[in-house]
Amino acid sequence: MSKSVEIIRDRAGNQPIQLALILGSGLGHLAYAVEGVAIPYADLPGFPHVSVSGHNPSLHVGTLEGVRVAVLGAREHYYEKGNPAAMRVALETLKALGVSSVIATNAAGSLRADIRPGDLMLLSDHINFSGLNPLIGEPTDTRFVPMTDAHNPAMRVALQAAAKTEGVALPEGVYAWYSGPSFETPAEIRAIKILGGDAVGMSTVPEVILARFLGLKVAAISTITNMAAGLSDEKISHEHTKAMAPLGAAKLEKILRCYLRAMS
Ligand code: HPA
Repeated sequence: MSKSVEIIRDRAGNQPIQLALILGSGLGHLAYAVEGVAIPYADLPGFPHVSVSGHNPSLHVGTLEGVRVAVLGAREHYYEKGNPAAMRVALETLKALGVSSVIATNAAGSLRADIRPGDLMLLSDHINFSGLNPLIGEPTDTRFVPMTDAHNPAMRVALQAAAKTEGVALPEGVYAWYSGPSFETPAEIRAIKILGGDAVGMSTVPEVILARFLGLKVAAISTITNMAAGLSDEKISHEHTKAMAPLGAAKLEKILRCYLRAMS
């Protein structure tokens, strides 16, 4: 048993955890809704080192809407240290603690006129625009992970049902992963549009690949913080992302709570 599994069991109890949530930029406060304990990543060997402002680098384990959950208050992005597998130990640890499904969230720029800042987008699929992969170097044939239906159809149906119950619009679209940390150029955004992207961001895709590799079901939701580069006059910045994320966060929290109630 890994040291992190032991520490989490010790502080949060032995009951299996059902679902893990990964929180994106400006969404970290959702973790405080969990009734349970918060364990700083620094106490958990192998957990990420997060250096991005606007993130809460702790694992919150406890109950939310009657479901035993683990909320990762922050993620390590590829652009921080160049490690696309930065979230691997965290996901392996949560799997060992019973987790069978993961919902990842992120902040993203929209390429679609009908999906505006403050809106949410459920990922129907993704494009790995970075060419990177967290499984490079994995020595066995288990690395050849099928990615058809990577964004779990049954979870998406359940998230759509929750959105409908809560009266929140939840359009689906394709998320393109761009490594960052610089934002995209307008020409890159035009290219992503031609390739079929609806939103662009700097995260989530490595975690979806890792989750599928580990046999975890996964779904992901973007909170749209801006129109992508060149699509509006608004200046794109990390400050702007952090300021805009809470607009979608309230809607996201409603959907997630309703989804968990239906699970419990
Ligand atoms: N591009 C990449 N990542 C982002 C964006 C964007 O426009 N907005 C929030 N995260």
